[in-house]
Amino acid sequence: MDKYVIEGGARLSGTVRAGGAKNSVLKLMAAAIMAEGDSRIHNVPDIADVRTMMEVLRYIGLSVDFSGGTLDISPAENPRLEAPYNLVQKMRASVEVLGPLVSRYGRARVAMPGGCNIGARQIDMHLKGLGQMGARIAVSHGYVESEANTLYGTRIYLDFASMGATENLMMAAVLAKGTTVIENAAKEPEVSDLAEFLSKMGATISGAGTSIITIKGVDSLKGGVEHTAVGDRIEAGTYLLAGAVARGQVTVTGLDPAFLEIVVEKLREAGCRLDLGPDSMTISVPDGVRGVEISTLPYPGFPTDLQPQTLTLLATAEGTSFVTENIFDNRFMVVDELNRLGADIKTKDHHAIIRGVPSLSGAPVTSTDLRAGAALVLAGLVAGGSTEVYDIQHIDRGYERFEEKLSSLGAKIKRVSVD
Ligand code: EPZ
Repeated sequence: MDKYVIEGGARLSGTVRAGGAKNSVLKLMAAAIMAEGDSRIHNVPDIADVRTMMEVLRYIGLSVDFSGGTLDISPAENPRLEAPYNLVQKMRASVEVLGPLVSRYGRARVAMPGGCNIGARQIDMHLKGLGQMGARIAVSHGYVESEANTLYGTRIYLDFASMGATENLMMAAVLAKGTTVIENAAKEPEVSDLAEFLSKMGATISGAGTSIITIKGVDSLKGGVEHTAVGDRIEAGTYLLAGAVARGQVTVTGLDPAFLEIVVEKLREAGCRLDLGPDSMTISVPDGVRGVEISTLPYPGFPTDLQPQTLTLLATAEGTSFVTENIFDNRFMVVDELNRLGADIKTKDHHAIIRGVPSLSGAPVTSTDLRAGAALVLAGLVAGGSTEVYDIQHIDRGYERFEEKLSSLGAKIKRVSVD
Protein backbone atom coordinates (compact mmCIF):
# COMPACT_ATOMS: atom_id res chain seq x y z
CA MET A 1 0.00 0.00 0.00
CA ASP A 2 1.50 3.33 -1.03
CA LYS A 3 0.68 6.96 -0.49
CA TYR A 4 1.54 10.16 -2.31
CA VAL A 5 3.31 12.95 -0.42
CA ILE A 6 2.85 16.28 -2.18
CA GLU A 7 4.42 19.64 -1.32
CA GLY A 8 2.06 22.43 -2.39
CA GLY A 9 2.96 25.63 -4.20
CA ALA A 10 4.74 24.50 -7.36
CA ARG A 11 3.61 26.24 -10.53
CA LEU A 12 3.11 23.59 -13.20
CA SER A 13 4.44 24.09 -16.70
CA GLY A 14 5.30 21.83 -19.58
CA THR A 15 3.76 19.16 -21.79
CA VAL A 16 2.36 15.69 -21.06
CA ARG A 17 0.96 13.16 -23.49
CA ALA A 18 -2.34 11.44 -22.72
CA GLY A 19 -2.20 7.67 -23.10
CA GLY A 20 -4.81 5.44 -24.69
CA ALA A 21 -8.31 5.66 -23.22
CA LYS A 22 -8.85 3.22 -20.35
CA ASN A 23 -12.59 3.25 -21.02
CA SER A 24 -12.03 2.21 -24.63
CA VAL A 25 -9.18 -0.28 -24.23
CA LEU A 26 -11.07 -2.42 -21.69
CA LYS A 27 -13.91 -2.93 -24.21
CA LEU A 28 -11.54 -3.46 -27.16
CA MET A 29 -10.02 -6.30 -25.11
CA ALA A 30 -13.48 -7.79 -24.51
CA ALA A 31 -14.27 -7.53 -28.23
CA ALA A 32 -11.13 -9.54 -29.06
CA ILE A 33 -12.94 -12.57 -27.55
CA MET A 34 -15.07 -12.69 -30.71
CA ALA A 35 -12.18 -12.63 -33.23
CA GLU A 36 -11.43 -15.91 -35.07
CA GLY A 37 -7.74 -15.03 -34.96
CA ASP A 38 -5.18 -12.75 -33.30
CA SER A 39 -5.87 -9.09 -32.46
CA ARG A 40 -3.30 -6.36 -31.85
CA ILE A 41 -4.18 -3.18 -29.93
CA HIS A 42 -1.80 -0.20 -29.74
CA ASN A 43 -1.70 2.84 -27.42
CA VAL A 44 -2.64 0.74 -24.38
CA PRO A 45 -1.81 2.35 -21.00
CA ASP A 46 -0.03 0.18 -18.42
CA ILE A 47 -2.62 0.62 -15.66
CA ALA A 48 -4.13 -1.75 -13.11
CA ASP A 49 -7.49 -2.06 -14.90
CA VAL A 50 -5.77 -3.23 -18.10
CA ARG A 51 -3.87 -5.82 -16.04
CA THR A 52 -7.15 -6.97 -14.50
CA MET A 53 -8.83 -7.33 -17.89
CA MET A 54 -5.79 -9.35 -19.01
CA GLU A 55 -6.50 -11.68 -16.06
CA VAL A 56 -10.14 -11.95 -17.17
CA LEU A 57 -9.20 -12.86 -20.75
CA ARG A 58 -6.58 -15.37 -19.56
CA TYR A 59 -9.15 -16.91 -17.18
CA ILE A 60 -11.44 -17.41 -20.17
CA GLY A 61 -8.53 -19.01 -22.02
CA LEU A 62 -7.23 -16.39 -24.41
CA SER A 63 -3.51 -15.69 -24.49
CA VAL A 64 -2.53 -12.08 -23.92
CA ASP A 65 0.88 -10.46 -24.28
CA PHE A 66 1.45 -6.84 -23.33
CA SER A 67 4.63 -4.94 -24.05
CA GLY A 68 5.55 -1.43 -25.12
CA GLY A 69 1.94 -0.24 -25.05
CA THR A 70 0.78 -2.99 -27.41
CA LEU A 71 -1.53 -5.91 -26.58
CA ASP A 72 -1.38 -9.14 -28.62
CA ILE A 73 -4.45 -11.28 -27.98
CA SER A 74 -5.01 -14.79 -29.36
CA PRO A 75 -8.29 -16.74 -29.26
CA ALA A 76 -9.06 -19.37 -26.62
CA GLU A 77 -8.80 -23.00 -27.77
CA ASN A 78 -11.31 -24.31 -25.19
CA PRO A 79 -12.82 -21.19 -23.68
CA ARG A 80 -14.10 -21.11 -20.09
CA LEU A 81 -17.25 -19.04 -20.53
CA GLU A 82 -17.06 -17.25 -17.21
CA ALA A 83 -15.88 -14.10 -15.43
CA PRO A 84 -15.40 -14.95 -11.74
CA TYR A 85 -16.44 -12.86 -8.77
CA ASN A 86 -12.93 -11.96 -7.61
CA LEU A 87 -12.17 -10.32 -10.98
CA VAL A 88 -15.56 -8.65 -11.50
CA GLN A 89 -15.45 -7.35 -7.93
CA LYS A 90 -12.01 -5.88 -8.68
CA MET A 91 -13.21 -4.22 -11.88
CA ARG A 92 -16.84 -3.77 -12.91
CA ALA A 93 -15.92 -3.45 -16.58
CA SER A 94 -15.32 -7.23 -16.55
CA VAL A 95 -19.07 -7.56 -17.23
CA GLU A 96 -18.32 -6.34 -20.76
CA VAL A 97 -17.29 -9.92 -21.64
CA LEU A 98 -20.95 -10.96 -21.32
CA GLY A 99 -22.04 -9.81 -24.78
CA PRO A 100 -18.98 -11.23 -26.58
CA LEU A 101 -19.22 -14.64 -24.84
CA VAL A 102 -22.96 -15.09 -25.44
CA SER A 103 -22.69 -13.80 -29.00
CA ARG A 104 -19.83 -16.07 -30.01
CA TYR A 105 -20.29 -19.13 -27.78
CA GLY A 106 -23.98 -19.00 -26.85
CA ARG A 107 -23.37 -19.00 -23.11
CA ALA A 108 -21.77 -16.99 -20.30
CA ARG A 109 -21.62 -17.00 -16.51
CA VAL A 110 -20.54 -13.63 -15.16
CA ALA A 111 -20.48 -12.45 -11.55
CA MET A 112 -22.86 -9.61 -10.83
CA PRO A 113 -20.82 -6.46 -10.15
CA GLY A 114 -21.33 -5.29 -6.58
CA GLY A 115 -21.75 -1.65 -5.76
CA CYS A 116 -18.73 0.57 -5.71
CA ASN A 117 -17.79 3.77 -3.99
CA ILE A 118 -19.52 5.97 -6.53
CA GLY A 119 -22.88 4.26 -6.73
CA ALA A 120 -25.07 1.22 -7.37
CA ARG A 121 -23.63 0.36 -10.81
CA GLN A 122 -26.54 -1.81 -11.99
CA ILE A 123 -26.47 -3.89 -15.17
CA ASP A 124 -30.23 -4.25 -15.65
CA MET A 125 -30.13 -2.57 -19.07
CA HIS A 126 -27.38 -4.95 -20.22
CA LEU A 127 -29.52 -7.95 -19.21
CA LYS A 128 -32.81 -6.57 -20.52
CA GLY A 129 -31.24 -5.97 -23.94
CA LEU A 130 -29.74 -9.46 -24.09
CA GLY A 131 -33.14 -10.87 -23.14
CA GLN A 132 -34.76 -8.93 -25.96
CA MET A 133 -32.26 -10.54 -28.35
CA GLY A 134 -33.41 -13.98 -27.23
CA ALA A 135 -30.94 -14.84 -24.49
CA ARG A 136 -32.26 -16.73 -21.45
CA ILE A 137 -31.06 -14.86 -18.36
CA ALA A 138 -30.95 -16.27 -14.85
CA VAL A 139 -29.44 -14.54 -11.82
CA SER A 140 -28.52 -16.79 -8.91
CA HIS A 141 -25.88 -16.93 -6.21
CA GLY A 142 -24.48 -13.58 -7.33
CA TYR A 143 -23.93 -14.70 -10.91
CA VAL A 144 -25.67 -13.94 -14.19
CA GLU A 145 -26.13 -17.05 -16.33
CA SER A 146 -27.00 -16.23 -19.93
CA GLU A 147 -27.68 -18.74 -22.72
CA ALA A 148 -28.77 -18.38 -26.34
CA ASN A 149 -28.36 -20.86 -29.20
CA THR A 150 -28.91 -17.85 -31.42
CA LEU A 151 -29.23 -14.16 -30.67
CA TYR A 152 -31.71 -12.34 -32.89
CA GLY A 153 -31.44 -8.72 -34.02
CA THR A 154 -34.13 -6.48 -32.56
CA ARG A 155 -34.87 -2.89 -31.57
CA ILE A 156 -33.52 -1.97 -28.11
CA TYR A 157 -34.38 1.29 -26.37
CA LEU A 158 -32.07 2.19 -23.47
CA ASP A 159 -33.84 4.03 -20.63
CA PHE A 160 -30.53 5.83 -19.99
CA ALA A 161 -27.67 6.37 -22.45
CA SER A 162 -25.52 3.86 -20.58
CA MET A 163 -22.02 3.49 -21.96
CA GLY A 164 -21.54 -0.06 -20.72
CA ALA A 165 -24.95 -1.27 -21.83
CA THR A 166 -24.48 0.28 -25.28
CA GLU A 167 -21.13 -1.47 -25.70
CA ASN A 168 -22.16 -4.86 -24.30
CA LEU A 169 -25.25 -4.95 -26.53
CA MET A 170 -23.38 -3.67 -29.59
CA MET A 171 -20.91 -6.54 -29.17
CA ALA A 172 -23.74 -9.03 -28.64
CA ALA A 173 -25.44 -7.78 -31.82
CA VAL A 174 -22.48 -8.10 -34.21
CA LEU A 175 -22.88 -11.92 -34.42
CA ALA A 176 -26.67 -12.00 -34.00
CA LYS A 177 -29.05 -13.09 -36.77
CA GLY A 178 -30.56 -9.99 -38.35
CA THR A 179 -30.35 -6.31 -37.55
CA THR A 180 -30.25 -4.66 -34.14
CA VAL A 181 -31.04 -1.01 -33.57
CA ILE A 182 -29.93 0.47 -30.24
CA GLU A 183 -31.84 3.69 -29.50
CA ASN A 184 -30.78 6.25 -26.90
CA ALA A 185 -27.29 4.79 -27.26
CA ALA A 186 -24.29 6.33 -25.50
CA LYS A 187 -22.30 8.64 -27.81
CA GLU A 188 -18.92 8.66 -26.05
CA PRO A 189 -15.82 8.64 -28.32
CA GLU A 190 -14.86 5.31 -26.74
CA VAL A 191 -18.09 3.77 -28.10
CA SER A 192 -17.11 4.95 -31.60
CA ASP A 193 -13.62 3.54 -31.07
CA LEU A 194 -15.08 0.11 -30.21
CA ALA A 195 -17.37 0.25 -33.27
CA GLU A 196 -14.35 1.02 -35.46
CA PHE A 197 -12.43 -1.97 -34.08
CA LEU A 198 -15.44 -4.29 -34.57
CA SER A 199 -15.89 -2.99 -38.12
CA LYS A 200 -12.24 -3.75 -38.91
CA MET A 201 -13.01 -7.34 -37.78
CA GLY A 202 -15.89 -7.46 -40.26
CA ALA A 203 -18.86 -6.19 -38.26
CA THR A 204 -21.46 -4.01 -40.01
CA ILE A 205 -22.17 -1.06 -37.72
CA SER A 206 -23.55 2.39 -38.52
CA GLY A 207 -24.44 5.35 -36.33
CA ALA A 208 -21.81 4.85 -33.61
CA GLY A 209 -21.28 8.23 -31.90
CA THR A 210 -24.96 9.09 -32.39
CA SER A 211 -27.93 8.02 -30.26
CA ILE A 212 -29.07 5.42 -32.82
CA ILE A 213 -26.65 2.59 -33.63
CA THR A 214 -27.58 -0.03 -36.25
CA ILE A 215 -25.77 -3.37 -36.31
CA LYS A 216 -26.32 -5.92 -39.07
CA GLY A 217 -25.30 -9.34 -37.75
CA VAL A 218 -22.51 -11.25 -39.54
CA ASP A 219 -21.44 -14.90 -39.24
CA SER A 220 -18.00 -14.33 -37.75
CA LEU A 221 -15.34 -11.74 -36.99
CA LYS A 222 -11.89 -12.14 -38.47
CA GLY A 223 -8.55 -12.01 -36.73
CA GLY A 224 -5.38 -10.29 -37.85
CA VAL A 225 -6.78 -6.87 -37.02
CA GLU A 226 -4.62 -4.06 -35.62
CA HIS A 227 -6.15 -1.05 -33.90
CA THR A 228 -4.86 2.02 -32.07
CA ALA A 229 -6.99 3.13 -29.11
CA VAL A 230 -8.18 6.74 -28.96
CA GLY A 231 -6.50 9.09 -26.49
CA ASP A 232 -7.85 9.22 -22.95
CA ARG A 233 -9.99 12.38 -22.66
CA ILE A 234 -10.37 11.94 -18.90
CA GLU A 235 -6.63 11.60 -18.29
CA ALA A 236 -6.09 14.63 -20.56
CA GLY A 237 -8.74 16.63 -18.71
CA THR A 238 -7.14 15.73 -15.40
CA TYR A 239 -3.80 17.21 -16.46
CA LEU A 240 -5.48 20.34 -17.86
CA LEU A 241 -7.25 20.79 -14.52
CA ALA A 242 -3.92 20.25 -12.73
CA GLY A 243 -2.48 23.13 -14.75
CA ALA A 244 -5.44 25.35 -13.88
CA VAL A 245 -5.43 24.38 -10.19
CA ALA A 246 -1.72 25.20 -9.94
CA ARG A 247 -2.24 28.41 -11.95
CA GLY A 248 0.49 27.28 -14.35
CA GLN A 249 0.67 26.58 -18.09
CA VAL A 250 0.21 22.97 -19.18
CA THR A 251 -0.05 21.42 -22.63
CA VAL A 252 -1.67 18.02 -23.13
CA THR A 253 -1.17 16.10 -26.37
CA GLY A 254 -2.43 12.78 -27.70
CA LEU A 255 -6.09 13.33 -28.41
CA ASP A 256 -8.60 15.29 -30.47
CA PRO A 257 -9.59 18.39 -28.43
CA ALA A 258 -13.15 17.92 -29.73
CA PHE A 259 -13.50 15.09 -27.18
CA LEU A 260 -13.39 17.74 -24.42
CA GLU A 261 -15.44 20.45 -26.08
CA ILE A 262 -17.80 21.21 -23.18
CA VAL A 263 -14.95 20.98 -20.66
CA VAL A 264 -13.03 23.59 -22.67
CA GLU A 265 -16.11 25.83 -22.73
CA LYS A 266 -16.61 25.54 -18.97
CA LEU A 267 -12.94 26.17 -18.20
CA ARG A 268 -13.02 29.28 -20.43
CA GLU A 269 -16.18 30.42 -18.61
CA ALA A 270 -14.23 29.99 -15.37
CA GLY A 271 -11.51 32.33 -16.64
CA CYS A 272 -8.99 29.83 -18.02
CA ARG A 273 -7.32 30.37 -21.36
CA LEU A 274 -7.37 27.31 -23.65
CA ASP A 275 -5.30 27.26 -26.85
CA LEU A 276 -6.20 24.29 -29.05
CA GLY A 277 -4.19 22.51 -31.77
CA PRO A 278 -5.10 19.44 -33.92
CA ASP A 279 -4.05 17.08 -31.12
CA SER A 280 -2.97 19.40 -28.32
CA MET A 281 -4.55 21.64 -25.70
CA THR A 282 -2.77 24.31 -23.66
CA ILE A 283 -4.29 25.76 -20.50
CA SER A 284 -3.24 28.83 -18.54
CA VAL A 285 -4.92 31.11 -16.01
CA PRO A 286 -4.32 34.78 -16.97
CA ASP A 287 -6.04 36.36 -13.98
CA GLY A 288 -7.81 34.07 -11.54
CA VAL A 289 -10.54 31.42 -11.69
CA ARG A 290 -14.22 32.29 -11.30
CA GLY A 291 -17.02 30.08 -10.01
CA VAL A 292 -19.29 28.34 -12.59
CA GLU A 293 -22.33 26.05 -12.73
CA ILE A 294 -21.79 22.49 -13.98
CA SER A 295 -24.13 19.51 -14.52
CA THR A 296 -22.67 16.15 -15.45
CA LEU A 297 -24.42 14.40 -18.35
CA PRO A 298 -23.76 11.60 -20.83
CA TYR A 299 -21.47 12.64 -23.70
CA PRO A 300 -21.26 15.26 -25.12
CA GLY A 301 -22.31 16.68 -21.73
CA PHE A 302 -19.83 17.44 -18.97
CA PRO A 303 -18.13 14.12 -18.08
CA THR A 304 -18.81 12.77 -14.60
CA ASP A 305 -15.24 11.41 -14.59
CA LEU A 306 -13.90 14.98 -14.43
CA GLN A 307 -16.37 16.15 -11.78
CA PRO A 308 -14.20 15.50 -8.67
CA GLN A 309 -11.13 17.12 -10.27
CA THR A 310 -13.27 20.15 -11.20
CA LEU A 311 -14.48 20.47 -7.59
CA THR A 312 -10.81 20.87 -6.68
CA LEU A 313 -10.42 23.74 -9.14
CA LEU A 314 -13.64 25.44 -7.98
CA ALA A 315 -12.62 25.06 -4.32
CA THR A 316 -10.15 27.94 -4.77
CA ALA A 317 -12.10 29.91 -7.40
CA GLU A 318 -13.48 33.38 -6.67
CA GLY A 319 -17.15 33.23 -5.82
CA THR A 320 -19.60 30.36 -5.52
CA SER A 321 -20.06 27.37 -7.85
CA PHE A 322 -22.87 24.84 -8.22
CA VAL A 323 -22.23 21.28 -9.41
CA THR A 324 -24.96 18.71 -10.10
CA GLU A 325 -23.99 15.03 -10.51
CA ASN A 326 -26.57 13.34 -12.73
CA ILE A 327 -24.80 10.09 -13.59
CA PHE A 328 -23.87 8.38 -10.32
CA ASP A 329 -25.79 8.37 -7.08
CA ASN A 330 -22.81 8.74 -4.78
CA ARG A 331 -20.04 10.64 -6.48
CA PHE A 332 -19.41 13.40 -3.94
CA MET A 333 -17.29 11.18 -1.66
CA VAL A 334 -14.31 13.45 -2.37
CA VAL A 335 -16.04 16.45 -0.77
CA ASP A 336 -15.36 15.44 2.83
CA GLU A 337 -11.69 14.93 1.98
CA LEU A 338 -11.44 18.29 0.15
CA ASN A 339 -13.03 19.97 3.17
CA ARG A 340 -10.29 18.46 5.32
CA LEU A 341 -7.89 20.44 3.13
CA GLY A 342 -9.81 23.65 3.91
CA ALA A 343 -12.35 23.70 1.07
CA ASP A 344 -15.87 24.99 1.79
CA ILE A 345 -18.19 22.58 -0.05
CA LYS A 346 -21.67 21.53 1.00
CA THR A 347 -23.67 18.76 -0.69
CA LYS A 348 -27.36 17.92 -0.69
CA ASP A 349 -28.54 14.94 -2.76
CA HIS A 350 -27.05 15.35 -6.24
CA HIS A 351 -26.01 18.97 -5.71
CA ALA A 352 -22.83 20.57 -4.39
CA ILE A 353 -22.33 24.22 -3.48
CA ILE A 354 -18.70 25.27 -3.55
CA ARG A 355 -17.73 28.55 -1.90
CA GLY A 356 -14.26 29.49 -3.14
CA VAL A 357 -11.60 29.94 -0.45
CA PRO A 358 -8.30 31.83 -0.87
CA SER A 359 -6.18 28.77 -0.18
CA LEU A 360 -6.14 25.14 0.94
CA SER A 361 -3.88 23.69 3.64
CA GLY A 362 -2.12 20.35 3.47
CA ALA A 363 -3.39 17.35 5.47
CA PRO A 364 -3.62 13.54 5.27
CA VAL A 365 -6.56 12.49 3.04
CA THR A 366 -7.83 9.20 1.57
CA SER A 367 -8.80 8.29 -1.99
CA THR A 368 -12.23 6.70 -2.22
CA ASP A 369 -12.14 5.98 -5.96
CA LEU A 370 -10.05 6.61 -9.02
CA ARG A 371 -11.16 10.13 -9.90
CA ALA A 372 -11.56 11.29 -6.29
CA GLY A 373 -7.95 10.22 -5.74
CA ALA A 374 -6.80 12.29 -8.70
CA ALA A 375 -8.80 15.26 -7.38
CA LEU A 376 -7.04 15.02 -4.01
CA VAL A 377 -3.62 14.93 -5.67
CA LEU A 378 -4.54 18.07 -7.61
CA ALA A 379 -5.61 19.72 -4.35
CA GLY A 380 -2.25 18.80 -2.81
CA LEU A 381 -0.53 20.73 -5.60
CA VAL A 382 -1.88 24.01 -4.21
CA ALA A 383 -2.46 23.22 -0.53
CA GLY A 384 0.01 25.00 1.74
CA GLY A 385 2.53 22.58 3.23
CA SER A 386 2.45 18.82 2.78
CA THR A 387 -0.52 16.66 1.72
CA GLU A 388 -0.54 12.87 2.04
CA VAL A 389 -2.97 10.97 -0.17
CA TYR A 390 -3.65 7.41 1.02
CA ASP A 391 -5.16 4.41 -0.81
CA ILE A 392 -3.61 5.44 -4.09
CA GLN A 393 -4.18 1.96 -5.51
CA HIS A 394 -7.43 3.50 -6.73
CA ILE A 395 -5.43 5.99 -8.80
CA ASP A 396 -3.22 3.24 -10.24
CA ARG A 397 -6.33 1.79 -11.87
CA GLY A 398 -6.53 4.53 -14.45
CA TYR A 399 -3.47 6.79 -14.46
CA GLU A 400 -0.21 5.50 -15.91
CA ARG A 401 2.93 6.93 -14.23
CA PHE A 402 0.80 9.65 -12.56
CA GLU A 403 3.52 10.95 -10.23
CA GLU A 404 6.10 10.84 -13.05
CA LYS A 405 3.96 12.88 -15.43
CA LEU A 406 3.07 15.42 -12.72
CA SER A 407 6.74 15.69 -11.65
CA SER A 408 7.70 16.36 -15.28
CA LEU A 409 5.41 19.41 -15.04
CA GLY A 410 7.18 20.61 -11.89
CA ALA A 411 4.98 19.10 -9.19
CA LYS A 412 6.65 18.12 -5.93
CA ILE A 413 5.15 14.66 -5.50
CA LYS A 414 6.63 11.42 -4.13
CA ARG A 415 5.26 7.89 -3.94
CA VAL A 416 5.98 6.44 -0.48
CA SER A 417 5.31 2.98 0.87
CA VAL A 418 2.93 3.03 3.83
CA ASP A 419 4.08 -0.32 5.25
C1 EPZ B 1 -18.50 3.93 -17.88
O1 EPZ B 1 -19.06 3.22 -16.78
C2 EPZ B 1 -17.09 4.29 -17.43
N1 EPZ B 1 -16.33 3.09 -17.13
C3 EPZ B 1 -17.16 5.18 -16.19
O2 EPZ B 1 -15.82 5.57 -15.88
C4 EPZ B 1 -17.97 6.43 -16.52
O3 EPZ B 1 -18.09 7.21 -15.36
C5 EPZ B 1 -19.36 6.02 -17.02
O4 EPZ B 1 -19.23 5.13 -18.16
C6 EPZ B 1 -20.20 7.20 -17.44
O5 EPZ B 1 -19.54 7.91 -18.43
C7 EPZ B 1 -15.86 2.33 -18.16
O6 EPZ B 1 -16.08 2.61 -19.32
C8 EPZ B 1 -15.04 1.12 -17.78
P1 EPZ B 1 -22.96 3.76 -17.42
P2 EPZ B 1 -20.49 2.46 -16.98
O7 EPZ B 1 -23.42 2.44 -17.85
O8 EPZ B 1 -20.54 1.87 -18.33
C9 EPZ B 1 -26.56 3.31 -14.30
C10 EPZ B 1 -13.93 5.89 -14.53
O9 EPZ B 1 -13.68 6.61 -13.55
N2 EPZ B 1 -26.84 2.05 -15.01
O10 EPZ B 1 -23.02 4.90 -18.37
O11 EPZ B 1 -20.70 1.61 -15.80
C11 EPZ B 1 -25.35 3.13 -13.39
O12 EPZ B 1 -25.78 2.64 -12.13
C12 EPZ B 1 -15.26 5.15 -14.61
O13 EPZ B 1 -13.13 5.70 -15.50
C13 EPZ B 1 -28.01 1.35 -14.67
O14 EPZ B 1 -28.78 1.76 -13.79
O15 EPZ B 1 -21.47 3.72 -16.90
C14 EPZ B 1 -24.81 4.54 -13.29
O16 EPZ B 1 -25.53 5.24 -12.29
C15 EPZ B 1 -16.16 5.44 -13.43
N3 EPZ B 1 -28.26 0.18 -15.30
C16 EPZ B 1 -25.14 5.14 -14.63
O17 EPZ B 1 -26.15 4.31 -15.23
C17 EPZ B 1 -27.45 -0.32 -16.27
O18 EPZ B 1 -27.75 -1.40 -16.83
C18 EPZ B 1 -23.93 5.25 -15.55
O19 EPZ B 1 -23.71 4.02 -16.02
C19 EPZ B 1 -26.27 0.40 -16.60
C20 EPZ B 1 -26.00 1.59 -15.96
